[in-house]
Amino acid sequence: MRLILLTTLAVAFSASSYAADGAGKRETIKSGSWSMTLPLGLQADAAYIPDENPMSDAKIELGKFLYFDNRFSKDSTISCATCHNPFHGFADPARTSLGVGRLLGGRNSPTVINRLFSADQFWDGRAADLELQAHGPLTNPVEMAMGSHDEVVERVRNISGYAPLFAKAFGDPKIDMTRIAQAIAAYERTVVSGNSAYDRYQAGDKSAMSPAEVRGMELFNGKANCVKCHASFNFTDENYRNIGVGMDKPKPDLGRYEVTKKEEDKGAFKTPTLRNIVETAPYMHDGSEATLMAVVEFYDKGGIKNPTLSSDMKVLNLTSSEKQDLVEFMRALTGDVMNADPPAELPK
Ligand code: HEC
Ligand code: HEC
Repeated sequence: MRLILLTTLAVAFSASSYAADGAGKRETIKSGSWSMTLPLGLQADAAYIPDENPMSDAKIELGKFLYFDNRFSKDSTISCATCHNPFHGFADPARTSLGVGRLLGGRNSPTVINRLFSADQFWDGRAADLELQAHGPLTNPVEMAMGSHDEVVERVRNISGYAPLFAKAFGDPKIDMTRIAQAIAAYERTVVSGNSAYDRYQAGDKSAMSPAEVRGMELFNGKANCVKCHASFNFTDENYRNIGVGMDKPKPDLGRYEVTKKEEDKGAFKTPTLRNIVETAPYMHDGSEATLMAVVEFYDKGGIKNPTLSSDMKVLNLTSSEKQDLVEFMRALTGDVMNADPPAELPK
């Protein structure tokens, strides 16, 4: 039974199923004896894998089960995939996510796609890596609401199918919170997206993008200056910026400031990737913008004025066709997501 499961996943994960990339060179990342060929357009030297958590196929397979398993939430209804859903670009169509008992959290679920390329996690960067991040949701009362990490470990131990998977991944069947988090993080690092129309265009296939998408790209890098923050191949400078979202509220979410307590970080949030952005509506840390056009309108006005607004935010005066072209360009960033299929069956 377990063996059948692993075989299915091994096939789902094999690099050959992603060999559909067009022209251009694909880069390979390595971690010990493990390696993975990235989809076209992604840069291996930007990958972040902590030394304490080397990758292996067995660990990734285990992490994938844990990620999709809703038995580790208080009422067994919620998994990571509930709010980071592969059918919604690994994000959540809800403005802010509903956890156990339909309790509402305060922020929009960011995508889990291309987390391989960031150390810090969360909108405010409060977790230093994916391993630390994974500890949060399991006991967060508005997410999976487990009483403690001991309870989580107990639940995993009570499903006998998991011990052999831990043995394969870690060398012995011990189950603890560190290993649970490490396995989930290893799985998340394989959820990468590239080989979009944009990547194929960059690799030399000039027919990959439509004229509107190309015009949008020129605006993105020029007049609209989006590239100032959504920089490089993953469309983020990995920095925290105040663009004004929510800053007109009586009690705004102060974002990065809550982590650093630095005045200039008030209202700053992580610049998110724009890959597969068309799939992850609604947008912004509070889910306040319903569509990509609404986002462009927001930028056209120069964001929302506040004392710590980034000096890179300016009124853009875009025409309506320029706005449309920017939206078209963002559509061209949708690519193949690796290792996205939910497991057919979970350990028993
Ligand atoms: C009830 C919904 C919900 C559940 C369940 C949930 N998350 Fe999240 N997740 C969120 C929200 C909301 C945020 C943003 C919170 C913040 O930034 O303060 C987030 C943030 C993240 C991030 C940071 C992404 C980034 O771009 O910084 C990762 C990674 C992540 N979650 C993974 C997981 C994993 C792994 C699980 C399961 C163990 C999980 N989440 C369960 C809602 C959820
Ligand atoms: C000064 C830096 C900066 C500039 C310039 C900028 N962005 Fe952003 N962008 C951000 C930050 C930071 C966020 C998240 C803000 C938040 O949620 O509070 C964001 C969020 C977004 C989102 C929503 C992402 C999501 O997952 O919810 C989209 C789409 C987007 N930007 C597109 C653009 C476009 C298009 C332009 C150019 C017109 C642009 N950005 C210019 C920093 C910037």
